[in-house]
Parts: sequence; structure tokens; C-alpha cells
Amino acid sequence: MAPDHRTQVAIVGAGPAGLLLGQLLHKAGIDAVILERHAREHVLGRIRAGVLEQTTADLLEHAGVGARMRRDGLVHTGFELLVQGRRHRIDLHGLTGGSTVLVYGQTELTRDLMEARDAAGLPTVYEAEHVAVHSFEGAHPYVTWRHSGRDQRVDCDFIAGCDGSHGVSRASVARGAIREYERVYSFGWLGLLADTPPVSDEIIYVNSERGFALCSMRSRTRSRYYLQVPLTAALSQWSDERFWEELRERLDERGRARLVTGPALEKSITPLRSFVVEPLRFGRLLLVGDAGHIVPPTGAKGLNLAATDVRYATDALIEHYAERSDAGIDRYSARCLRRIWRAERFSWWLTRLTHPLAEEGPIGAKLQQAELDYLLHSEAGRRTIAENYVGLPLEFGEV
Ligand code: APR
Ligand code: PHB
Repeated sequence: MAPDHRTQVAIVGAGPAGLLLGQLLHKAGIDAVILERHAREHVLGRIRAGVLEQTTADLLEHAGVGARMRRDGLVHTGFELLVQGRRHRIDLHGLTGGSTVLVYGQTELTRDLMEARDAAGLPTVYEAEHVAVHSFEGAHPYVTWRHSGRDQRVDCDFIAGCDGSHGVSRASVARGAIREYERVYSFGWLGLLADTPPVSDEIIYVNSERGFALCSMRSRTRSRYYLQVPLTAALSQWSDERFWEELRERLDERGRARLVTGPALEKSITPLRSFVVEPLRFGRLLLVGDAGHIVPPTGAKGLNLAATDVRYATDALIEHYAERSDAGIDRYSARCLRRIWRAERFSWWLTRLTHPLAEEGPIGAKLQQAELDYLLHSEAGRRTIAENYVGLPLEFGEV
């Protein structure tokens, strides 16, 4: 890329949010360049969630990257809650008038987006060092970075901060201009990926006295499991054998009989947090995806929220260029935040329902059991779980 360059939208971050935004802007004839701090392989090496809401799958289809997703993705019509040794199936399809979710790994989705960007010959700078965002409160923002020993700059109309929870975009906003809301949980998730057949055809959320477990998958031959662990847990304490043994302890007999173990392809510990900043727009800077919010992974909402932010940012930018109107830009933050807070609430609620919460003591355990007992034996209770899990309609609650 030339040392000094101009584009319409400078995107910071080549994760799902940045890549999907770049793809949708390209489809709309809007120029964008993506600046990513890491190498492409590093971005692809991240193992993240893999449950797509219907609206997310539809948006990826619209972006022109849905072929492999439709071929390899697994349509799920329900999932199970295993509570105190009893299984309860949440019939997503039946309880929501036909909605389903698609199990398709974020890594694969990121690869699809990268390949589409390459095929279109669109500019992405990987291993961009010291990325900095400038003058976004005015009408002539720009981004600088260093690459191959040379300082570079791109002038633009807008900056999309798609750089995740530890990025430079949010960090560049004046402290007094942004409000943070955060809840940190007293435990983390130890995740393991293995080339073994999943223990079940559907996802299982396990609430056992030993702690939460999650049985998921990436395909019919690749499994993804999680165990709730204390925040003090270290990977060095968790051999593959110890992981499989603990998972067995938290499963029921049916699960133990079907569990196929094997060497971990990847193991990692993720702390759980609920985090939102308000607003998400600062002049010509838009925060998109994890740059603006984090959900505990229990509800599998992180990627889906990023996709909705991207949808709203794309609508706003198209309106700016095609209709010379900034109404969409002005509405961007409020439009995103309404959906974000609903997903934050559901993710927090489902986390509290499925994880033993030591800090709430014996009465907390009894109240949790009573809430689960009500929800799982009430059609209204199961429906509220189902309609939030598949994702509320985009126009939900619109007046
Ligand atoms: N300069 C350039 N790039 C940066 C910088 C920086 N200063 N800081 C971070 N990045 C890059 C990261 O390397 C990463 O590739 O921004 C990208 C942000 O991607 P994600 O963290 O994946 O966030 P997002 O694209 O919003 O996707 C959200 O990813 O973390 C999961 O659970 C989350 O599924 C959700 C999805
Ligand atoms: C996953 O497959 O990684 C996954 C599935 C469901 C969740 C969280 C993660 O709620």
C-alpha cells in the first residue's frame, strides 16, 4: 500500500466484525481498507464459539460467503439442559415457530471471509504495528501504522473500530466521553477441541454439583467441550486425561457411555465477563463487535452481536454515501445497544441458571434449582429460553 493512501472507511481489526464489514461495504461499492495487528495465520488460529443465529447466517449469505457455511454447517433444532442428572430438551424449532441455529465454527467463517476478500483483491494490511486512530471527532479522520519499517497513513471519512476488547479504538476515546458497564464472574471456562465424534447430536449444557460443562461440536467428527474452572486455574494443571475424567464426572450415564476421548488439538481458559460501553459512536468512529461489548459465552451471542453491529454500521454508511444522510450514523449506537443489552441480559441469565454460584451460598443453589424447575416444566419458561437462544427478531420491540 502507498505510504499515504485514501479510502472511505478505515477498518481496524480483521476478526469476524472487520472482515464482514469489509465484505458488505465492498458489495455496496464503498471502499475500505483493513488494518490488522497480527498475521493472518494468528487470526485463523483463534478457536471461538460456533453457533450462528438465523439472522447472522442470512447476513453471511447476503455478503456472498454462505456457500461453505450452508454445506458444512449443522442445523440444530434444539439443545439439551442436563440438570441434576436429568436431561431437558429445549425444542427451539417447535417453541419459536420454526427457528433454528447453525453450528459453524468462527474459524471457518473467518476463513471464508478472508478468502472472499482475497478473491476480490481488497486491501488488508496484516502485521500492522502501532495502529493509531486520529481526528475522528472531526470530518477528516485518519489512521496511522507502521509496516515493514515504514510509517504509513490512510485518510478516510469513517473509522470502524473492529479491534476487539483489547483494541486501540475504544482506548482512544476520551475517558469522559464513554461509560463502561462491567460484571466479572468468579470462574472461567476451560475449553478443549478434539477430533472425536461429539458426545451428542445436539449441544448439552450441564449444571452439575461439580460445576458447569458444555458439550458442543464443530462437525460430526470434531468436538468442542468446556468445563467451568476457578479463576485461579492454570492450563498446566489440566492434562487431557484430567479434562476427560472431570467431564465424565459431570455428565450423566448416557453421556459417559457415548463420550469418545482423544488428544486435545487446543486447550484454553477464558474468563467470563459481561461488558458494554456507551455510546458506540464518537464522531466519525464507530465501535463494532467486541470493541464495544463482551458477553459470557453461555448464550453463544458474541459473534451474533458482532454481526448485528456490522449490519447496522453497513446500513448507516450506505445511507451516508448513497443518500447524503447521517440519520443512520446518528442512530447507530442506540440501535446496536438495544440488541446488545437484550443479549447481555440473556447471557447473564443463562450463566446464572447453569453455573453453581458459590458466592450465593446454599439458598442461592435452592433458588437456582427452583427457577430451573419452573422454567423447564412450563411451556412459557421453555419458550423464553428458546426465543432468546435463536435470537430475537431484529425488529423486536420496535415502535
Ligand atoms: N490494531 C489492529 N488490529 C487490532 C488491534 C490493533 N491495535 N487490536 C486488536 N486488533 C485485532 C485483533 O488481532 C483481532 O484480529 O482486531 C481483531 C478483533 O477481532 P475479535 O476479537 O474476534 O472481535 P470481533 O471481530 O468483534 O469478533 C467478535 O470474536 O472474540 C470473539 O466472542 C467473540 O465471537 C465473538 C467475535
Ligand atoms: C461452542 O461450540 O464453542 C459453543 C457453543 C455454545 C455456547 C458456547 C460455545 O453457548
